[in-house]
Amino acid sequence: MKRLNTEYVDVIHLHSCSEEILRRGEVIQVLERAKQAGKTRYIGYSGDRNDALYAVQTGLFDSLETSVNIADQEVIQLTLGEAARRGMGVTAKRPIANVAWAFETMKQEEYPYTYWKRLQELNYSFLEDVQKGVEVALRFALSTTGVHTAIVGTRNPDRWAQNATLLTKGNLPQEQYDQIRSRWQEIAGSDWVGQT
Ligand SMILES: NC(=O)c1ccc[n+]([C@@H]2O[C@H](COP(=O)([O-])OP(=O)(O)OC[C@H]3O[C@@H](n4cnc5c(N)ncnc54)[C@H](OP(=O)(O)O)[C@@H]3O)[C@@H](O)[C@H]2O)c1
Repeated sequence: MKRLNTEYVDVIHLHSCSEEILRRGEVIQVLERAKQAGKTRYIGYSGDRNDALYAVQTGLFDSLETSVNIADQEVIQLTLGEAARRGMGVTAKRPIANVAWAFETMKQEEYPYTYWKRLQELNYSFLEDVQKGVEVALRFALSTTGVHTAIVGTRNPDRWAQNATLLTKGNLPQEQYDQIRSRWQEIAGSDWVGQT
C-alpha cells in the first residue's frame, strides 16, 4: 500500500486458491483481518470450477472474479446463480477468450490453446472477422446475467477506449446470446471446464 500511495484498497482478490486450501481457513482469516483493519473495503476470490463454487458457498467473499467467455461457459450454470443469490459482485476475467480465434496455429503449451481448440469446434460464424469477434465476445461476457464488469488484458494502452466503444451497443440481442449458449450446450464436452 505504501507503493500504491494509499491507505486502503477497494478489493483484494485471492488468486486461484484450491478448495482444499480454502477449507483450512487460514487464508480467509488473513483476508478478513485485512478487511476488519480497514486495509481493504471488500475481499474477493478469483478462480474457477468447483474451487470457485466452494469459495462462493462459504459466504465469506464479497466478490468473484472468474472466467466467462464464448469459449468458457461452465460458470454460467455452475456458479453465477449462487454468486447472485449472495449479492456478490462478479468480474469476468479472460472475457474475450484471449482472441484465440485470431491465430492460425497454436502449440499445446501456449496459454490460449484450450480456447483455440474449443473455438475450432464451436465454429461460431461471427469469428470470421477478427474484430467483429472481439465485439461479440465482449458483449457476450457482459450480457451474461450476474456479471457486473470485465477485465480485458492488454499490452496496449489504447485498447481501453477501443473496447469501451465496442460496448456502446449494449447487451447482445437475446436471440444471438441464446444461439451462443445453445452452440456451447450442443458441442461442449464434460471436460470443458472453467480455465484459470
Ligand atoms: N486466476 C486469475 O485470477 C486469472 C486468470 C487468468 C486471467 N486473469 C486476469 O484476467 C484479465 C484478462 O485475462 P487475459 O488477458 O488472459 O484474457 P483476455 O482479456 O480474454 O484477452 C487478452 C488478449 O486480448 C487482446 N485484445 C484486447 N483487446 C483487443 C481488441 N480490441 N482487439 C484485438 N485484441 C484485443 C490482447 O492483446 P493486446 O495486448 O494486443 O491488446 C490480449 O492478447 C487479466 O487482467 C488477467 O490478469 C486472472
